[in-house]
Amino acid sequence: MAMDRRNFLTTATLASLGLTLEAQDINQKDGRAADAKREASAVGGPPSKPVMISSRNGWNGMDKGYQMLLEGGDTLDAVIAVGKTQEDDPNDDSVGLGGLPNEEGGVELDSCCMHGPTRRAGAVGGVRWTKNASLLAQAVMQHTAHVMLVGEGADRFARAMGFPKDELLTERSRKAWLLWKESHRDSWWGPGLSDPNYRVPPDLQPPPPPSAQWWEQKRRELEELAAELAIPLEWRGHCIDRVLFPTHGTIHCSAVTPKGEMSGMTTTCGLAWKIPGRCGDSPIIGAGSFTDQDVGSAGATGSGEENIRVAGAHTIVENMRHGMTPREAGLDALKRIARNYRHNPAKLRYVDMQYYVLRKDGAYAGVSLWSHTASDKRRQFLVHDGSKRLEDMPYLFAGGPLSFPPQAREPFQRPNYGPSQPEKK
Ligand code: GLY
Repeated sequence: MAMDRRNFLTTATLASLGLTLEAQDINQKDGRAADAKREASAVGGPPSKPVMISSRNGWNGMDKGYQMLLEGGDTLDAVIAVGKTQEDDPNDDSVGLGGLPNEEGGVELDSCCMHGPTRRAGAVGGVRWTKNASLLAQAVMQHTAHVMLVGEGADRFARAMGFPKDELLTERSRKAWLLWKESHRDSWWGPGLSDPNYRVPPDLQPPPPPSAQWWEQKRRELEELAAELAIPLEWRGHCIDRVLFPTHGTIHCSAVTPKGEMSGMTTTCGLAWKIPGRCGDSPIIGAGSFTDQDVGSAGATGSGEENIRVAGAHTIVENMRHGMTPREAGLDALKRIARNYRHNPAKLRYVDMQYYVLRKDGAYAGVSLWSHTASDKRRQFLVHDGSKRLEDMPYLFAGGPLSFPPQAREPFQRPNYGPSQPEKK
C-alpha cells in the first residue's frame, strides 16, 4: 500500500529509528527467500550465463552491455557501455554530459574501474571537459603506468588520447544550479556530520520531520523563484527537486561471465553543489568500486565521504572472501557506517548509501542503508542474467534519508535588500 511522505516518515521511519540495527537488518521475507535460493548453492565455478548488476540508473545501457558479454566481449568494456550510455545522455544529470555542477557552476566528473582478468585499475577525478569519464578511467588503466589522474592533467590526457573536448554544463543543469544558488544565501562548507563537535540542530532531530506544510511552502517559494529565473515550466519540478534533494549522482556496474571473468566500473558527477575539487568515493579504488575475480566485485552509490571511511567496495569483497554471502557482505559494510555514528539516528538520517555486490559464481545482492530515496521511491537495483529487472534492496532502516546539511525548518526568506538607493555622488 502506498504511503504519503508525511505518514511514511512519521510512522515507519521514526518508529524504526528507535529500534536496534539488528532488529531491522533482515526485513523482507520475500527478499530473504530469494536470496536464500540464490545462495543455496555452494560458492563454486562461474555462472552458466553472464550476470550484470548495477544501480537502477544503468537501465538504458544494460541491454547493450549484456549483449556485448553474450558475444564474448570483455567484461570491462561491457560495464563501461552501461556507464557511457548515461554519460552521453544530456538529460541524465547524475553522470557525464549534463551532470549537476559544483557550487561555482562547473561540472566535475569522477570515475574508476577495475579489470579482473588483468587485475588492473584506472581512475580519474575532477574531469571538466570530457563527458566519458568511465572511458577515460579505462584509458588511464590501459595507456599509462598510473592508476589515477585528476583535474587539468586528466583533461589534458584526454585530449592527447583523442577524446573530444565537451562542454558538460547543459542549460537545464545550469538552471538547476541557478535556482540552488539563488535560494541558498550562504555557501555551506561544514562542519560535516563526522566532526565530533557537530550537533544536528535540536529542532531538526526526530521527531518530528518537517511538516507537509513546510514542504508545500518551500516548493511554492522555489516555484516563484524559478519563474523569476525564467526556468521553463517543464524543467521546474526537476530543478526544485534537485535543490531540495541534492543528489550524489553515480552509476555502478559489475559483471561476471561463464569464463569467470569479472570487472566493475563507477562513474559520477559527484555531489551536487559541492566545493570545487571535491572528490567523493567514485574515483577511489576500494571505495567506489573494487573487483577481485577470485572473489567478486562491488561498488557504491550514495554519500561518498561515508563510503570512503569504510572503504566499502573493498570491505565487501574481503567479507565475501571470508565467507559472507553478497547480502551479508553488503549489510556489514552498511553497519560499519552506522557504527561510525554510534548508530545515532539523528545523524544517520543524513547519510544515504547503497552497495551492489556480485560474487564470482554469479550470486548477487544490492543493499541500502535506507529503504527509500529522499523523495520516497523504493530503493531498487538492476540485474541482468538473461532477463533485465529491478529488485528491491534489503535495508538497515525503514524510511528515506534527508539532505545534508539539514534544511532549516522555517521556509527560507528571500534576502530583503530594501528599496534601491541612488548611488551617492
Ligand atoms: N557517491 C558519489 C559521490 O559521493 O560523489
